[in-house]
Amino acid sequence: MPSLPLARRGNTLSSQIGFTERLFASSDDKQFAKRIDAGLDLVEGGLREQVRYADEVADVTARYLLNAGGKRVRPMLTLLTAQLGEGATPEVITAAQAVEITHLASLYHDDVMDEALTRRGVPSAQHVWGNSVAVLTGDLLFARASQLVASLGEGAIRLQADTFERLCLGQLHETIGPNEGDDPVAHYISVLSDKTGSLVAASAQMGVMFSGAPQEYIRPVMEFGEKVGVGFQLVDDVIDLSAEGEETGKTPGTDLRAGVATLPLLKLRARAASDQAASALLERLETEVLGAPDDVDVSDAVAQLRAHPVTQETLDEAYRWAREAVEAIAPLPDGPVKRALTRFADTIVERSS
Ligand code: IPE
Ligand code: IPE
Ligand code: MG
Ligand code: MG
Repeated sequence: MPSLPLARRGNTLSSQIGFTERLFASSDDKQFAKRIDAGLDLVEGGLREQVRYADEVADVTARYLLNAGGKRVRPMLTLLTAQLGEGATPEVITAAQAVEITHLASLYHDDVMDEALTRRGVPSAQHVWGNSVAVLTGDLLFARASQLVASLGEGAIRLQADTFERLCLGQLHETIGPNEGDDPVAHYISVLSDKTGSLVAASAQMGVMFSGAPQEYIRPVMEFGEKVGVGFQLVDDVIDLSAEGEETGKTPGTDLRAGVATLPLLKLRARAASDQAASALLERLETEVLGAPDDVDVSDAVAQLRAHPVTQETLDEAYRWAREAVEAIAPLPDGPVKRALTRFADTIVERSS
């Protein structure tokens, strides 16, 4: 078995994007921040315990990406919405671990599908061990997430199953592309809602469900999670064009090489019919980048797409989703949770990694 590359950094949420400080800037919210941090510590310790199998090989492969870093956005959201009730109850901590392990599992599978070279600053799992081991490790992690959720009762099991189904359908529809006659952008947004919005929404919902918070908060936080998830994924499309592979922990242009039609590319295609420069850039991307082997340098073509107005338009679209997410939580009481969720939405779309 190849030796493990060292994790490049401890890229926790706070160290990566200064999240905690930004969420809890005012002194009024410091106590609130302490509670969230304490919850995150419990989640983190539990994750390391949970990703343990009675099998040496599985332990190594399953902990590989966990140890490599990650922002822990989804458990953070569960902990935030749990503050609408009794806070980080044992059930809330279990739910937060389950959503992160579900996410982690999806990354192993996604990197196989996208033929990604790097993830969280280290070589992707299939690059180290091959596709079969990466797929099976993802499966093992999905199984572990289900075991955790089973202890939370039938409502949680159903939510986890429904979420997983949507996540898979999103990945499937992304792979297959739109049907003839479908609007490609509308198709793409529904892919983002399913593959990413579903789990972010479930993360927010579980915080309400397991903290004893009023049930009428479920709908607003779900809608918030779904919309913030779409904004988050749109920013991820732009991050794919970033020249800063060191910062993002990913290989620039991975989506484009794999032929994933992200929003900047879809917008470029829409313009190409009536705009010569857009059409020339599209042709360049299609000949030089789509399907390019790993050893071909595509950075110049990717930089051109990054500099094109369609990339700024994609970011504007991400901001719009974040704003709508904040509108969805209008029914929540004014206070630290609402303030933190609002900053969460802003931070998600301003991130660069
Ligand atoms: C990456 O998610 C995949 C998407 C759904 C965009 P994150 O950006 O949350 O990845 P980590 O957990 O921080 O590595
Ligand atoms: C990942 O989507 C979504 C899921 C894992 C469900 P992407 O393929 O766009 O995310 P990155 O860019 O590899 O993190
Ligand atoms: Mg990917
Ligand atoms: Mg993908």
